[in-house]
Amino acid sequence: LASTEVDVSQIAEGQAVTVKWRGKPVFVWNRTKAQVEEAKKVELAQLPDKSARNENLPSDAPATDVNRAAKDKENWLIVVGVCTHLGCVPISNSGDFGGFLCPCHGSHYDSAGRIRRGPAPENLHVPPYAFEGDTKIKIG
Ligand code: FES
Repeated sequence: LASTEVDVSQIAEGQAVTVKWRGKPVFVWNRTKAQVEEAKKVELAQLPDKSARNENLPSDAPATDVNRAAKDKENWLIVVGVCTHLGCVPISNSGDFGGFLCPCHGSHYDSAGRIRRGPAPENLHVPPYAFEGDTKIKIG
């Protein structure tokens, strides 16, 4: 299937679910206010990878939380669940930066899915997607 539709109405605040898109896991995370605020506080200078890696934005967009999260729905973070080091699947709601931990070689991602420590060179990628209404996301 080229695209995947996700009903997000049952995803509670703080909860992340994994869906499949083109054979890859995609994390759909309904972040808490605290998790969003945490991500917003981070300065670009603190980030190993300063690119938003968001397929919905120009390639030179910086990795601010706004540029990582869903447009006008900042609680939602949608990222491809493939570690940018060697492709393992990170664990959600985990690691030292409140986001994801890759168990293979210890890459820690923050609550915007940005690499903060470990061997991964890039932020988790944001796939092409759009909200259709308030409760449905079409990925791809
Ligand atoms: Fe994730 Fe190596 S594959 S840290």
